[in-house]
Amino acid sequence: MTRGLLGLVASGCGGVETWFRTELAEPAAQRGWRLAITLTPTVVPWFEEADELDKLQALTDLEVRWHPRMPSQPKPYPTPDAFIFAPASANSVAKLALGIGDNQALTALNEGIGVEGCKVVVMPQASADKRRHPMWDTHVETLTKAGVVVVTDVAPGALLDLLESS
Ligand SMILES: Cc1cc2nc3c(=O)[nH]c(=O)nc-3n(C[C@H](O)[C@H](O)[C@H](O)COP(=O)(O)O)c2cc1C
Repeated sequence: MTRGLLGLVASGCGGVETWFRTELAEPAAQRGWRLAITLTPTVVPWFEEADELDKLQALTDLEVRWHPRMPSQPKPYPTPDAFIFAPASANSVAKLALGIGDNQALTALNEGIGVEGCKVVVMPQASADKRRHPMWDTHVETLTKAGVVVVTDVAPGALLDLLESS
């Protein structure tokens, strides 16, 4: 069964290289999602060091991206039907709430927010030290008001359940 195109985005959070593929990307592919995987530049070397990049690429016919396209190149895929951004660092949550798209991952997410029928689920992974920042609650509230589903303490598999519920 093909569910549609799922934008999967990961950022530089501790442990991501150990679970992102096995607990999120592979189960998503097994459930029938076609994957459009985009990584922040921070996390790419983490996946590289863990020998994960090729394994992620093997899950999808679409290029795993972190570089923006050249002006001469067409968009490599349409806006996904849904997004999961997990784990989302405090840095990327703040930028997303402000609409900053200074890397390919944030550009893709920014373009997905507000698209009718495109569910965007964000799972921040941020320590209390990071969440203490005076703008943290405002960032989460801004995203929530924009229709983004912000969840915490959810197992990666449950993120997929969220997409599949109405
Ligand atoms: C080993 C390591 C683990 C980190 N874990 C987290 C984390 O869990 N959450 C977080 O918000 N930042 C974490 N950081 C800091 C982010 O990687 C840093 O803010 C970075 O700029 C995030 O970039 P990105 O949002 O573009 O991926 C960690 C940094 C390192 C080196």
